[in-house]
Amino acid sequence: PHTAVIIPAAGRGVRLGPGIPKALRLLNGVPILVHAVRAMAAARSVATVIVVAPPDGAEGVRALLDEHPLPRPVALHVVPGGTTRQESVRLGLAALPADADVVLVHDAARPLVPVDTTEAVAAAVRDGAPAVVPALPVTDTIKQIAAPAREGEPVPVTGTPDRALLRAVQTPQGFAPDALLDAHRRLAGLGGEEGATDDAGMVERLGLPVVLVPGHEEAFKVTRPLDLVLAEAVLARRRI
Ligand code: CTP
Ligand code: MG
Repeated sequence: PHTAVIIPAAGRGVRLGPGIPKALRLLNGVPILVHAVRAMAAARSVATVIVVAPPDGAEGVRALLDEHPLPRPVALHVVPGGTTRQESVRLGLAALPADADVVLVHDAARPLVPVDTTEAVAAAVRDGAPAVVPALPVTDTIKQIAAPAREGEPVPVTGTPDRALLRAVQTPQGFAPDALLDAHRRLAGLGGEEGATDDAGMVERLGLPVVLVPGHEEAFKVTRPLDLVLAEAVLARRRI
């Protein structure tokens, strides 16, 4: 069995704030991307890691990764990414080894995902599920609105979905390679509102079943400045 991981890391991190791309920001002195690659390499089933770098930054990312040792030896590839997450994943898929029988897609922005979560996702794919997503129950009540609204503007509510039927999804999401490759071939070119916000969403559109497995609190995404504070606190707790 050969599990390959694609790590989209080409985003600019606008919500985190100006400066260098989010994946290169430091967490405890180590780039967020390095934490994410180490988290994936720590999983024993993972043999290949494909990092999707900012479009003009592949060489720099390669040099950065070569400076930081990994917990286990893996084949490490770095490819340039695109302008949307979906395009970055597609560019990563082009480097997928032909003998991979599980492909995971993991956000660089989730640097602290525990190895057990990664292994549980990969195992569920090996056991026959075409698409597997780690997810957690939603703690906030979610309101539906009629249309996208400008931030800060009062906006009418159109409904309140039953929270018991909602889940917040994380990464790594795991796939049978053909399922994800097919989804990208068939849905290529869809962007903006038609584009999927996660990889499993594309596979759902093919009509394939997607299953959830338990996610983990520490697999949270570093999106806004407060998330950096939380990530540093999680790392400090791990060192004790
Ligand atoms: N990503 C990517 N290529 C893009 C956009 C996003 O590879 N064109 C990656 C990001 O690097 C990140 C993951 O997708 O690891 C999740 O995206 P998100 O958290 O939204 O990161 P950014 O897009 O960088 O942040 P923002 O939306 O705040 O700009
Ligand atoms: Mg984004």
